[in-house]
Amino acid sequence: MSAAQHAATSMADGDQDSSRPWSVEVRRTPAGAPDVTAAERLAADLRVGLAQDPPSIPPKWFYDDKGSLLFDEITRLEEYYPTRTEEAILRSSADEIAALSEAATLVELGAGYSRKTRLLLEALTSGGRELLYVPLDVAEEPLRDTAVRVVAAHPTVEVRALVADFEDDLRPLPGEGAPRLVAFLGSTIGNLLPDDRAAFLSRLCNAMDPGDALLLGADLVKDPGRLVAAYDDARGVTAAFNKNVVDVLARELGADLDPDDFDHVAVWNADAERIEMRLRARRDLTVRIDALDLDWSLPAGSEVLTETSHKFRVEGVQAELRAAGLTPVRTWTDEADDFSLTLARREA
Ligand code: AVJ
Repeated sequence: MSAAQHAATSMADGDQDSSRPWSVEVRRTPAGAPDVTAAERLAADLRVGLAQDPPSIPPKWFYDDKGSLLFDEITRLEEYYPTRTEEAILRSSADEIAALSEAATLVELGAGYSRKTRLLLEALTSGGRELLYVPLDVAEEPLRDTAVRVVAAHPTVEVRALVADFEDDLRPLPGEGAPRLVAFLGSTIGNLLPDDRAAFLSRLCNAMDPGDALLLGADLVKDPGRLVAAYDDARGVTAAFNKNVVDVLARELGADLDPDDFDHVAVWNADAERIEMRLRARRDLTVRIDALDLDWSLPAGSEVLTETSHKFRVEGVQAELRAAGLTPVRTWTDEADDFSLTLARREA
């Protein structure tokens, strides 16, 4: 969460023969806006979220350095099928995606450690083509890791990483004048509520130029038992990830909170077709939050909603893309229809 407190930084790699430049920039929106600290943004989010029923915390606050590493560990869990399934789909479709998009710039929203992106980078640079890669994430540390790794492994890729929230204004998207591919993988879009999703996709379409394409990963509705297991794994990694947000609140707001006072809960909400992660108070808690001038009371058994992870149907994804002004070009799924990737284009 130190990201926003850093000034914009830029670094050129010393070894000009083997690798291209990379940079990590903290982008504020609107451009030129005064710096707002992580604690101030978190306080603003909580002012809204804790007044809701149930009280909720936006899931982006999971991703401090520790939370980013825990999520990385989740992606390798036996129960967590989305990452490896999406990767398998990418492995067989990346060349086609590259051919259809003809992109000279790859923008990746919510990139994290960008592990699956290697497949897209390889396809988009085949034959020695040059590519501008713009990973964007709220978490700075994974972006630095990515930038160094990508320029070392892909000699024709320049990395311009952006520390930013994908829900903020994305304009201007880097890479003007040539087709872009905007990748939003992992079903991270599932974190947004339906109205927020529609608004986000419209904003994204507006930030794109005609001819640009979006590659959207969306996890599909399936057996609830498998879904719940994916969010409540046997080793407790997801529980630790969920409870880590308690440490983030404690640290950023100086709140007297202990992760051990909460239980991890993952439930399938069949009406809304989404997994909900919650934190349930194990005892009566009263938490002083100075930044909000709030004495937050959480009776034993009460729950805070920390994440909604919507699951989709392919027709639904395509309809939502169309409603936002994007034309679906093609959808790929795995054999079991567990996960989908849809390529959609902004028409002229
Ligand atoms: C990163 C939002 C796609 O919803 O599956 C994984 C986050 N939460 N396990 C998801 C998550 C719990 C993940 N996304």
